[in-house]
Amino acid sequence: MHPTINIAIKAARQAGSIITRASQDLESLTISNKGFNDFVSEVDLASEKEIIKVLKKAYPDHAFLGEESGLTHQADNIWIIDPLDGTTNFLHGLPIYCISIALEQKGEITQAVIYDPNRNDLFTATKGQGAYLNQRRIRVSNKSKLKESIIGTGFPFRDFKYLPVYLKIFEELVRGTSGIRRPGSAALDLAYVAAGWFDGFFEINLSKWDIAAGGLIIREAGGIVSDFSEKDGWLESGNIVAANAKIYQPLMKIIKSHITDKLN
Ligand code: IPD
Ligand code: CA
Ligand code: CA
Repeated sequence: MHPTINIAIKAARQAGSIITRASQDLESLTISNKGFNDFVSEVDLASEKEIIKVLKKAYPDHAFLGEESGLTHQADNIWIIDPLDGTTNFLHGLPIYCISIALEQKGEITQAVIYDPNRNDLFTATKGQGAYLNQRRIRVSNKSKLKESIIGTGFPFRDFKYLPVYLKIFEELVRGTSGIRRPGSAALDLAYVAAGWFDGFFEINLSKWDIAAGGLIIREAGGIVSDFSEKDGWLESGNIVAANAKIYQPLMKIIKSHITDKLN
């Protein structure tokens, strides 16, 4: 295993302990809504602080792009961090959330870790060296028919201007697949495509920290990742389609038939 990935794993596991500890106090905290919300933002911040602390100790010259603290500075090596992906689930005590950490080197994602502290699932990838779940090699599914596929997604709940287009795609997929799932953590959704548990995934307007790690893990698991124009702009636009090679085109065809120029 690449030594860099071990540092990222250590950071993710330590952040996981912080989040798990915090999740055990949720009940008392839900009594006070205000405290509850403050508390969650404290958990996000504490997780991010811990991740950056561990990574910085090993790589003092690297830069950090954290969801909560932004970009430290421009550098050849940038760690892209979502310290708690699935905050709404966490808020409700729903145990579907994760930590996502990726390393971008000169514009290319080379290391990726997604850690689910509830299931103790550790998804990892190093560019060119395959994708792993708890140190076992994973591959995307080999489902070849959309009709037999399960597609993960996320609803556009922040910017409703995307909702009409999204709902058209949604309807066609509800009719044309085995099922749609919306667990509530984009990074985990992508890890599930890599593991072959989802056959495909799409979402509009995500952030770099939601998808950087998952994108590499899927590619290293043999899957395809693109934006809505079948190009590589997904990290910047946050518009992402991912699938095994067999259902990528049928899925893309449906998405493309509803998408407007602005979302390409
Ligand atoms: C969110 C989750 C969710 C997705 C949202 C993200 P957060 O991340 O990944 O599944 O639909 O768009 O913002 O806010 O919980 O880190
Ligand atoms: Ca997120
Ligand atoms: Ca987050």
